[in-house]
Amino acid sequence: MGVVILGTGSCLPEKIISNHDLEKRVETSDEWIVSRTGISTRRISGKGEETYKIAASAARNALDVAELTADDIDLIIVATMSSHMLMPSCACFVQKELGADKAFAYDVNAACSGFLFALDCGDKYLRVENNKKVLVIGTETLSSRTNWQDRNTCILFGDGAGAVVLEYQDNNRGVVASNLFSDGRLWNLLYMHTAPSCNPALAEEDNPGAHILMEGKEVFKYAVKAMEGAVRDLLTSEQIELEAIDVMIPHQANIRILNKLVSRLGIEQEKVFINVHKYGNTSAASVPIALDEAKREGWLKRGDLLLVCSFGGGFTWGASLIRW
Ligand code: ACO
Repeated sequence: MGVVILGTGSCLPEKIISNHDLEKRVETSDEWIVSRTGISTRRISGKGEETYKIAASAARNALDVAELTADDIDLIIVATMSSHMLMPSCACFVQKELGADKAFAYDVNAACSGFLFALDCGDKYLRVENNKKVLVIGTETLSSRTNWQDRNTCILFGDGAGAVVLEYQDNNRGVVASNLFSDGRLWNLLYMHTAPSCNPALAEEDNPGAHILMEGKEVFKYAVKAMEGAVRDLLTSEQIELEAIDVMIPHQANIRILNKLVSRLGIEQEKVFINVHKYGNTSAASVPIALDEAKREGWLKRGDLLLVCSFGGGFTWGASLIRW
């Protein structure tokens, strides 16, 4: 018995920004970006492609695949850190956009690990509310939260959304287990302020505005170690050998993190789905976008064991196993 993914969907903004386009904004080069990150292009939202709109579009695609409508949905969980408003939540805007009137909706913020955390919320909810259906979405427009003068960060991120529809089924498919972690002590290695406080007593003196700041080398080091640990612990606790994994979909942060993780785990490269070269790091959207693309490209067949893992600001990280 398990919580099964009935359908996947994704939505990428139209506009493609290449490394050569970025050469015109900051002192960088296509060669530097490709060799350090593996990223060649990323998508950037334009008018009408707000975080909730691309989320709703990804959700519609997932609903179509699942042969369901918005009326069938009981809960919408959106993982994001780049909604256009702090309140209401992005999930409420998605609900409105879809017309999913009977659903309740809320956001989860676990930075780049948001989708895994939201998936766990959906999984646990359905284990209690067996007859319900849940939409889990990862959506980001980090283009709106990027300092386009900072070459350390502006080359990394992209916009996009991915969605899955979940249902509890009486069979041996679905989410097997998840292993999630946070370490708030390391917040200052990767963070983003909100707007300055209206209460002078709570104002932070060094608030540079709401954009991403990062110690890249430290993030790199922790990301590899943390994801490796989460995967190994999960496999041990579930008594599953690494060789039993059919497909691995890691958070698409950058190719050097992925290569290092893959070689430390010792998983075969051919089992690892990668699309970071096309979309850059889409944060909470990266895993569901990759999942949807992998599904449509025929990577996943019924019964396959899928491993997903992620790492992000917080720090937050984790891994999940899904029997497809
Ligand atoms: N173009 C050209 N040169 C650059 C650029 C750029 N875009 N960015 C930095 N440099 C320069 C630096 O200024 C530095 O120059 P200096 O030697 O004269 O001081 C030099 O390149 C080396 O800089 P480093 O920061 O040491 O470069 P590094 O090899 O660490 O690569 C990178 C930087 C790509 C950010 C790397 O640290 C990284 O991938 N970190 C992980 C970050 C990440 O993925 N964050 C995403 C969020 S968390 C997550 O999703 C996992």
